This record gives sequence, C-alpha cells and structure tokens, in this order.
Amino acid sequence: MSADRFISGPPEGCRPDWTIDQDWSRYTAEEHRVWVTLYERQTALLPGRACDQFLKGLEALDLHGKGIPDFEVMNLKLKALTGWTVVAVPGLVPDEVFFDHLANRRFPAGSFIRRPDQLDYLEEPDVFHDVFGHVPMLTDPTFADYMKAYGEGGLRAMSLGRLHNLARLYWYTVEFGLMETPQGLRIYGAGIVSSRGESEFSLEDPSPNRLGFDLVRVMRTPYRIDDYQQVYFVLPSLQRLLDDTLQDFGPVYEQLGRLPDIAIAAITPEDRVFTRGTQAYAGAHVA
Ligand SMILES: [Fe+2]
Repeated sequence: MSADRFISGPPEGCRPDWTIDQDWSRYTAEEHRVWVTLYERQTALLPGRACDQFLKGLEALDLHGKGIPDFEVMNLKLKALTGWTVVAVPGLVPDEVFFDHLANRRFPAGSFIRRPDQLDYLEEPDVFHDVFGHVPMLTDPTFADYMKAYGEGGLRAMSLGRLHNLARLYWYTVEFGLMETPQGLRIYGAGIVSSRGESEFSLEDPSPNRLGFDLVRVMRTPYRIDDYQQVYFVLPSLQRLLDDTLQDFGPVYEQLGRLPDIAIAAITPEDRVFTRGTQAYAGAHVA
C-alpha cells in the first residue's frame, strides 16, 4: 500500500521515482533465514487454502525458499509472463508514485526484511509481504491487467477526491481478497497469504462475515488495519474483478457521493452471504 505522509520528496539515496537498488548481496545469512522460515511456514499452510493462480505463480517464479529473491533474476521470469517487474523501494511511497508504478506494470516492494523476533509483526510491508504475498498473483494475466488498471484509476481517483473509496477496493481485493472456486473458498489477497494467522482465520474462523464481491458495496465499507478483518469479500472470478475495474468509475463515484458508508460488520439485504460471522473475535479484541 501507499502513504502520502512524505511531502518533501524521496529520501536521500532514492531515485526521483522513489526506487533504490535492491543490492541483493548485502543481505545477511540471518536475513535469508528469516525468509526461509516464513516461506516454509506459509507453503505448508497454503495448499488447499490459496487459489490455484497464486500457487502456480509461486512455482513459476521459482521462489523455492532458498532465501530472499534477487529481483533481477525474478524479474526475468515475471516480465516474460505478464510484462510486470518488481522495483525496490525503501518503504511506503506517496500515493501518486505508487499509482504511477502500477500503471506502468512496476510493483514497488520493500527491500528490507523483518527481524527474527518479529515473524508475525509488521509495521510496514517488508520484502516477504511484498514479494511472497503480491508477486505470485502478478504472474496471472488477468490479475496483472487488473493491477495496471487500478494504478490508472488511482491517479484519476486522486483528482476526483475519491481515493478513500478506491483504497477500499485495493484493501478488500489485492490485500484481503477471497475467491469462490469449485473446490470452495480460496485466498488470493497478499495480506492473507503472507500471514500465518490470517491464512487460517480468513477461511476457517466463524467470526468474520464472508460476503459476495460487489464493487460499490466494497467501496462503501471501511476496513481495519490493526487486526484481522471483520469482513472478507468473495470474488466469483478474477475476470469479474478486471471487468468491473475497466468500467468508467465516474458514475460509480457519483453514486458513492449519494450513499453513506456501510458499518464494517454490517450485512445488508442485498449481500450474498457466504458466512454470517459471529464477530466474536472482533468483540474480544476491541481496539
Ligand atoms: Fe501489500
């Protein structure tokens, strides 16, 4: 995700587009071990939980847990598949920079990795979240096109004052999306696939609501950044996500201007309900 808290331009050592060299040779053996630990934990959990597109992407990129991937090597494979590349950034980047990268099929990834005593704690997205979580889905042509369309839409949303609505679409799809498949619900969101706890919680816990994806509905729903989600939205297919995003958002934003937000744990009569959650987890973890 992005942040607009930087107003004075990129930090020292960054290019004007906020990218830096990954400088793969600087990673220590301990840092590579953190990647391997996280990789092994997640790949043990994800078969039968993550969607086929994610698992296939992980294979295609050959991220077999040998350590933090070298972006240059990984980009050769990724670019050949969908035209995307991963670029290293020092951390969160301003919104317009983030959208411009996405619109040009570049995914900005944090190049640092969390410490061994922080395996389940993340203040800012690190290389494990950004690469393991996000990049496998970028090998899928439909999802890859969606991410580019999202970046283009971001620049427009900023000019129309609708960034908060568009950010919800990113949150409930790219970060925390579920998908309906003939085998049952599957994860495609990066925030879930890179988290041990949420990989199980999102699919198996009775607490959260699981509701059918609807573009306007999603854009009306706030989200929480501090804990597991109270609602997940279930896509019928990646094609639906792309098709919905390629439409002109002008009328969508006009509609949103007339409609109030929907409370985070609410279920409306129009919702397709996969799970009517108990909200027990959220109730016990009041912020
Ligand atoms: Fe992310």
